[in-house]
Amino acid sequence: MTATKAPGADRYLPAERGLDALRAAAECCRGCQLFADATQTVFGRGRAGAPIMLVGEQPGDREDRAGEPFVGPAGRLLDRALEEAGIDPACTYETNAVKHFKFTRKGGKRRIHQKPGRTEVVACRPWLIAEIEAVRPRVIVCLGATAAQSLLGAAFRVSAERGRQLRLPAALADVEPEPVVVATVHPSAVLRDRSDRHDEAYRLFVDDLRSASSGVVTGP
Ligand code: URA
Ligand code: SF4
Repeated sequence: MTATKAPGADRYLPAERGLDALRAAAECCRGCQLFADATQTVFGRGRAGAPIMLVGEQPGDREDRAGEPFVGPAGRLLDRALEEAGIDPACTYETNAVKHFKFTRKGGKRRIHQKPGRTEVVACRPWLIAEIEAVRPRVIVCLGATAAQSLLGAAFRVSAERGRQLRLPAALADVEPEPVVVATVHPSAVLRDRSDRHDEAYRLFVDDLRSASSGVVTGP
């Protein structure tokens, strides 16, 4: 068989499904082409049992270098919003729909973020599902369309369903108790909104985080 088509992450998943084993195995994932140009796999951060899972799109330039999710500007906005929403960081598990940074180069050096395609999102989804099964969160907050469409289908529209309490498709994950899934905007979208609606966009984002986490124990 010729290795022409990337087969997705499934065959890189380890038999042991604890977070440490998953993280170690994900370092060697070649489930799509994105591993080739990125610095490293950026796996999720947090503990098994964290009640709130936050799912972004993919690592950015800073995350790619650091090897950790949400350490750049979007992460700082997210941290601030979580604090204002009354969510203890110890209660969150932060990860991304896609674990390698996708970019183009501009002017030689600068790396410009490129949105991952459906093929990459689907290829990488086994890692996200395995994280959900290992962490067993009460609530999964999808930050933006990429995360939401990974878990809720390509037709999902954040603008239409933002803030609603949804369920994971049964075929996707086997988790008990079943988590609630809520979609909101991506913190980068709030960051980029420099219009006079910026403050409102930020406030709505905080409101979504707060209502998604209400009823969830937020003490460590
Ligand atoms: N944006 C994301 O979606 N994830 C990160 O980890 C950082 C920025
Ligand atoms: Fe594997 Fe995901 Fe990286 Fe693609 S983006 S190589 S599927 S970890």
